[in-house]
Amino acid sequence: MADTDNVKEGKLFYPDVPVKSEAFFLKGSNSLDWGMKNRLSKIFDPTSGKTVMLAIDHGYFQGPTTGLERVDINILPLLPYTDTLMLTRGMLRTTISPTYGKGVVLRASGGPSILKELSNEEIAMSVEDALRLNASAMAVQVFIGGEFETKSIHNMTRLVDEGNRYGIPTLAVTAVGKDMARDARYLRLACRICAELGATYVKTYYVPEEFDSVTASCPVPVVMAGGKKIPEPDALRMSYNAIQEGAAGVDMGRNIFQSENPIAMIQAVRKVVHEGMKPEEAYELYQTLKKQTH
Ligand code: R5P
Repeated sequence: MADTDNVKEGKLFYPDVPVKSEAFFLKGSNSLDWGMKNRLSKIFDPTSGKTVMLAIDHGYFQGPTTGLERVDINILPLLPYTDTLMLTRGMLRTTISPTYGKGVVLRASGGPSILKELSNEEIAMSVEDALRLNASAMAVQVFIGGEFETKSIHNMTRLVDEGNRYGIPTLAVTAVGKDMARDARYLRLACRICAELGATYVKTYYVPEEFDSVTASCPVPVVMAGGKKIPEPDALRMSYNAIQEGAAGVDMGRNIFQSENPIAMIQAVRKVVHEGMKPEEAYELYQTLKKQTH
C-alpha cells in the first residue's frame, strides 16, 4: 500500500486551462457511450474517419463461395491490410487468431440459405456471445420491401436494444431483393429507416445517380457495400465515388477476395478510402503491387 506519511497537497491544477471537450469524429455518434465509441474507433480509423472492412461472411447463407473455399489460405494474408473483418462467429472462432487486434463485426442474423426466401432471417447470435468474442459491432440484414420486411426490421431493433445495453454498435445491412429497383430513392428509404430505428451505422450499395443524397439523408455513417465482382478499375472508381459522395468507408468482399490479386487490390482500396487517391492512380498502384506479389 502507498505510504501516506509524506503526501503533499497537489499544485498542478492548471486552473487557467479549460478541460478539452472534443466531439467524437463519427457522424451521428456523439451521444453514444464510451464503450460504444471505443468499439467504433476500432472499426473506423480516427485519423481518416473511414474504414476498410473486409466482408467474408458470405458463407452464412451461401456456403463456401468462390474465394472463400479456404479462409485460412486465401483470407489470412489480407488481414494486415484490413481495418475490420466482417464475418460469422464460426469462422472467427475456428480460423482467425485471437491476436487479430482490429475491429470484428459479427454477422448476427441468419437462417435461410440461398435455396430459400432470404428475407426470412432470425437473430442468429446472442449478445453474450458477441461480448465473449469481444465484438466491435453486430451486423444484421434488413430487407426493406422484402417479403419478411417487418421481421427483419424487428431483428435489427432487438439487436440495437441488446447492443445499447452493453455498448455494442449495430450495423444494419440493407439487402436489396433481385426484383427491386436499386436506385437512390430506394436506398434513401432503406438507410433512413435503419438509422431512425437505431442502427449505429449502415451498409448499403453504391448507385451512380444521387448517392450523395443517400449519405446526406442518413444521420449515421454509411459504408459502401462491394457487391458482385466487377473489373478492378471499376471497383476502385466506385469506391472513390462513394467516398467523395459521403461514404464513411467500404465493406467489401468479392471485389477484394475474388480479385486476380487480392493483396494488391485491398491495398489500392485502402489508398482510395483513407487518402482519397484517384481511381486511375490506385489502379496503377494495384498493377505495380500485383507484379511485386506474383
Ligand atoms: C450480405 O449481404 C452480406 O453481408 C455479404 O455476405 C457480404 O457482406 C457482401 O459483400 P460483397 O457484396 O462485397 O461481396
